[in-house]
Amino acid sequence: QTSSASAALADKGNHRHFMAKEIYEQPETISHTLAHYVDLSEEKVALREDLPFDFAKLSRLTITACGTAFYAGLVAKYWFERYARLAVDVDVASEFRYREPPLADNGLTLVISQSGETADTLAALRYAAKSGQHIAALVNVQESTIARESHVVFPTLCGPEIGVASTKAFTAQLTALASLAIAAGQARGTISASEAHTLVRALVELPSAVSEVLRHEKSIEGIARHLARASDVLYLGRGQMFPLALEGALKLKEISYIHAEGYAAGELKHGPIALVNEEMPVVVVAPSDDLMEKTLSNMHEVSARGGKIILITDAEGRAQAGDGISDIIEMPRVHPFVAPILSSIPVQLLAYHTAVFMGTDVDQPRNLAKSVTVE
Ligand code: G6P
Repeated sequence: QTSSASAALADKGNHRHFMAKEIYEQPETISHTLAHYVDLSEEKVALREDLPFDFAKLSRLTITACGTAFYAGLVAKYWFERYARLAVDVDVASEFRYREPPLADNGLTLVISQSGETADTLAALRYAAKSGQHIAALVNVQESTIARESHVVFPTLCGPEIGVASTKAFTAQLTALASLAIAAGQARGTISASEAHTLVRALVELPSAVSEVLRHEKSIEGIARHLARASDVLYLGRGQMFPLALEGALKLKEISYIHAEGYAAGELKHGPIALVNEEMPVVVVAPSDDLMEKTLSNMHEVSARGGKIILITDAEGRAQAGDGISDIIEMPRVHPFVAPILSSIPVQLLAYHTAVFMGTDVDQPRNLAKSVTVE
């Protein structure tokens, strides 16, 4: 064994894989990131960065990224639109850079990248900078090229992420983006101080809810045992849970090599329902919120056709869902604002345990790289 191999082994602590270790670090990495954005004694967002733009005057927000970071951007769209009434475009960097879209005057382009080195994301940043946009970067690696080339850098403080499949970087990105959406809402006068306080409280209470979900690992492992037998899995979500369906499917395919697709629940009727049968598990990400009824009706369309449902929800959602669900992963009830962050945990654990059952190389899945620095 080389010394670096033994150092790496030691770094995994009691975990079999870096991915497991990184999943388990999330109560801390979320807290740590939050502490950067929020004054915890006042329970207020307090940005430390000097902003080279004014949220109140922005015409538009453009978010661009790749992979899991792109899905964090998709969740952020819901937050910025809802709480800051700011128009948001989100695009994968490889499309954005070649489409050369016209960008609004006084617009902000926000790039999201764990590594800060992804080639397409960097090219998208350069295009936006050349187009006169304000450039902000949300990065985990502070000494990266993307950080250096941005006008303002927002950090995620989750420490090095080793597993190729992103986990703790995703929830740290979401935590930072949620804080920024609150800051934008306050600057634009679209949320009151007391609403902002409620949202910050929800973020502050999140790490303990994450710990509680981690305590359900055994039951998630049991569900993963069935999932490991599937050759196709469909993930459904609506509203801010739609990106979680995409992320769930990405995580599963990346590390277990099982074909998985994420769909907006409302699109079920427009195609994927044709695939539903007893063989294809359908994972529904639906913590209770004002859209849950709609998602439940999609779920019933699946179970009426013999589809097996794995429902990720809370106690209220479980009660509303009624019978006919094969498996339920129950999370504590949190404010709907932070539910996408909490729902990341069961989605990650489900993919992780499925991959462990399949015997794949969880930390270094075939054909994938941690950082894609070439096209
Ligand atoms: C690769 C990694 C993903 C990551 C994506 C974007 O595909 O395997 O985990 O989400 O790149 O990377 P970045 O460093 O820009 O966030």
